[in-house]
Amino acid sequence: MSNPNSLYITTPIYYVNDVPHIGHAYTTVAADVLARYWRLRGRDVFFLTGLDEHGQKVQQAAVKAGIDAQAHCDRLAPQFQELWKRLNISHDAFIRTTDAPHKSAVQRYLQELFNAGLIYKADYTGWYCTFDERFWTEKDVTAGLCPDCKRPVEQLSEHNYFFKMGQYQERLLDHIKQHPDFIRPESRRNEVLGFLTTQTLGDLSISRPKSRLSWGIELPFDKDCVTYVWFDALVNYVSALEYLSKKPAFDEFWPASVHLVGKDILTTHAVYWSTMLMALNLPLPKMIFAHGWWTVNGEKMSKSRGNVVDPHKIIETIGTDAFRHFLFREVPFGQDGDFSQTTMVTILNSDLANGIGNLLSRTLTMIERFANSTIPAAGPPALPELEAKIAAAATSLPGKIEHGFRSLAFRENLQAIWELIGLCDEYIDKAAPWKLAKSPDNLPQLNTVLHTASRALRLISVLLYPYMPHTAGQLAQQLGLSWDFSKPLPQTAYEWGAPFPQAKICKGPGLFPRIETQPQGAKTVSDATIPPQSTAAIPTPAIPAPPPTTAAAPAAPAQITIDDFMKIQLKTAKVISAERVPKSEKLLKLQVSLGEGGEQRQIVAGIGKKYEPEALIGKMIIIVANLKPAKLMGIESQGMVLAAGDSEVRGLATILEDVDPGTKVK
Ligand code: MSP
Repeated sequence: MSNPNSLYITTPIYYVNDVPHIGHAYTTVAADVLARYWRLRGRDVFFLTGLDEHGQKVQQAAVKAGIDAQAHCDRLAPQFQELWKRLNISHDAFIRTTDAPHKSAVQRYLQELFNAGLIYKADYTGWYCTFDERFWTEKDVTAGLCPDCKRPVEQLSEHNYFFKMGQYQERLLDHIKQHPDFIRPESRRNEVLGFLTTQTLGDLSISRPKSRLSWGIELPFDKDCVTYVWFDALVNYVSALEYLSKKPAFDEFWPASVHLVGKDILTTHAVYWSTMLMALNLPLPKMIFAHGWWTVNGEKMSKSRGNVVDPHKIIETIGTDAFRHFLFREVPFGQDGDFSQTTMVTILNSDLANGIGNLLSRTLTMIERFANSTIPAAGPPALPELEAKIAAAATSLPGKIEHGFRSLAFRENLQAIWELIGLCDEYIDKAAPWKLAKSPDNLPQLNTVLHTASRALRLISVLLYPYMPHTAGQLAQQLGLSWDFSKPLPQTAYEWGAPFPQAKICKGPGLFPRIETQPQGAKTVSDATIPPQSTAAIPTPAIPAPPPTTAAAPAAPAQITIDDFMKIQLKTAKVISAERVPKSEKLLKLQVSLGEGGEQRQIVAGIGKKYEPEALIGKMIIIVANLKPAKLMGIESQGMVLAAGDSEVRGLATILEDVDPGTKVK
């Protein structure tokens, strides 16, 4: 690569045999996160994705759909493009292997290898699996079944062209040993090394007779054959640079910085592609990173099981940024992960609604109320120890994140950002700005708290941008910053100590609504799978059930029996967030938690004359947990807070001892 500032990121090109699923979305979002991070850091990024349109799988899908193969590809391609748009993917180029310039590039490379004597013709007999589109040797096959998909194999004999892959075994082994980052993660590198040290690398059959498969690129030296789909597909990484970039890009972007692939296609990349490049005298990519696979509720995801996760349905319910966050928050990139709606909802509620969403909303609410909507300059320390802890975490964070992106540690980066969010929450709880606001003497300290929290949010917005571009924009805008994330940001954006103008904030609506697991109110996550009979049409998004709008229960009689009383379920609950209901003096909207990993509720309570919302956060209260939901000033309340007083609230009921939220009260 001639320009050290350039960076070339690729995803696999996806087969167009069906609509895209969470696995496709995973790699593509990962590439997008990287591309956005490095662009913001000023690197010149070329991000390529696209479609693998030839081969048996695609031909079979076209036959099934009863249309011509090209028409089938043309019908499916927009579905991938549409999904990438919804997922906010910022690719620079989208390749389709049926593009004419790609086809000529493949033919040119084939001819070059043929002329150099690196492709030869031979007869081949073996056990062929039509589904996997590959031959197996005698020792691979048991009981006439394909060792991979367990479908019957058939014996086939045909003329074939072979690429002299075997002769590169030693060179490849040396390359892998000398370049520790060439295959990542380490476990996958060891797998390839193990294979190359213990087995003999054979030559690779790179042609298919047209009589068996016509949907492919014709061999330039034999009109009766098409090339093997992998020879066609892998070439996309270089052909795209020839015709899909605005300026001549080969010298600038090759070798690729990273090929992101799933673990199942590591061999084709690490062995086939590398040896092809060696034969063509081209440098090898800097890194091939193989990520893990998603299972669904512990099961392999497959069409026949009917559990293929449809990204459209998830986006419809939780939104693009929340989905992008979820993909990387829990599962280390490189390992397999399990998709379950429950885990997704738990992560979203704790990280987004109660985490970053709540931190922004409480900080801006206080700036509105106590600082005339302008981020104040810092005064003397309010809580020196915690302030030092926040400063240390925030100062080291950008470096950590950079290191994380170099090693594709997407999850670790999110963890580090959420540690800072957690510290800020603790800081606000302990500093209690609403108490400081009571006396003018404490104003300087109050300003420090508001300033520090805003400063942290500013840094968080820059660092979250690659994962959640839209949210980052909202964070910045609400903080009154005029940042344009589509261009590189100055280094000062990453510096904790950089000047922070006393900007006017611009508080907007909450960033993330809480998601309900049960259809009790708010949004619900419905089944996100693609039905097994799915066609190539974009599946209809799931529409969340409307929240129930039942009126409050009738007044209780003057005397009740113990049985009547036992019908009332009282529980302890911890206040996670609180804000005033607009245009109401009395009503506060509370989000309360009923325990670790347990339920959360929204309660509208008439305690606003007695309490400032900020003073309630973290408090343990008692609620009526089985009251039918009701709407107060158009806002759903899922329970009632117990308080002393009559028309005027005098105090909240609580428990003297320290008990867990969700504990029964009787
Ligand atoms: N066309 C080839 C790639 C050619 S690249 C030069 C191909 N296409 S694919 O559509 O079948 O798969 C594309 C990617 O999706 C692979 O990286 C694969 O690992 C990934 N996934 C397919 N199912 C997946 C999961 N369940 N989970 C995560 N990724 C998964 O292979």
